[in-house]
Amino acid sequence: MHPSRRPLIAGNWKMNAGSPAEARALATAVARAAADHDRVDVLVAPPFPVLGVVAEQLDRVDGKVWVGAQNMSHEQAGAFTGEVASSMIRDAGATWVILGHSERRQLYGETDAVVAKKTVAAMTHGPRPIVCVGETLEEREAGTTLAVVERQVRATADALARQPGFGAIAYEPVWAIGTGKVAKPEDAQEVHASIRALLAKIAPALADSTRILYGGSVKADNAAALLSQPDIDGALVGGASLDAAGFGKIIEAAQQLAERRR
Ligand code: PGA
Repeated sequence: MHPSRRPLIAGNWKMNAGSPAEARALATAVARAAADHDRVDVLVAPPFPVLGVVAEQLDRVDGKVWVGAQNMSHEQAGAFTGEVASSMIRDAGATWVILGHSERRQLYGETDAVVAKKTVAAMTHGPRPIVCVGETLEEREAGTTLAVVERQVRATADALARQPGFGAIAYEPVWAIGTGKVAKPEDAQEVHASIRALLAKIAPALADSTRILYGGSVKADNAAALLSQPDIDGALVGGASLDAAGFGKIIEAAQQLAERRR
């Protein structure tokens, strides 16, 4: 973490906690865990049907935790069965959207070009995008990690540069997602530093202001080591975000580091 960037801890609930009762309870518990952590931005991304439920609940219990969607159409309206537009996400009370998650790329065929279009839409109409990038195990073993990540970042960097700091990037090695295999902090740092160097070539302000989150098996017990790295500005948390106590410990780790780095 760097003192000039506020840490962002984001919880990606994926296709979980989607009943209104479960979503309200988890959102309330996260709001309580996030309270008094004034140096950290906190975001939860529930499934679409409960976006509004979670946003309303968070407004009631605490205005500080942000709500995000997990995907978005690049189209604004029309005959696109099953798709959800940016205005619908914003009307539900969400201010962020996760784009190009590796599950979207791998299971639903989202290419760099698709993710780029979605990023342009988010940068133009909102909500604020978190663009996910990351290599597969095969790509890492072939030594192509930096090239793959660079290609994925390049596809969206011009859009992100339209308003430096409005969007964020999440580096999520695919082999670390949901597997319990977390990247070594120094390996993650190497990729984060290369992403920032690439952003700097496009615009220095983009490099300085873009929060680059790490994601992939982040838990209470490994968060501090990851967040201590100079170019890791937060975490995108899947499994561990479904347990408010554990998620709260990740927020706490970020708060403590931010206090020390004032
Ligand atoms: P995980 O998921 O924390 O369960 O590994 C991270 C993500 O997919 O965003």
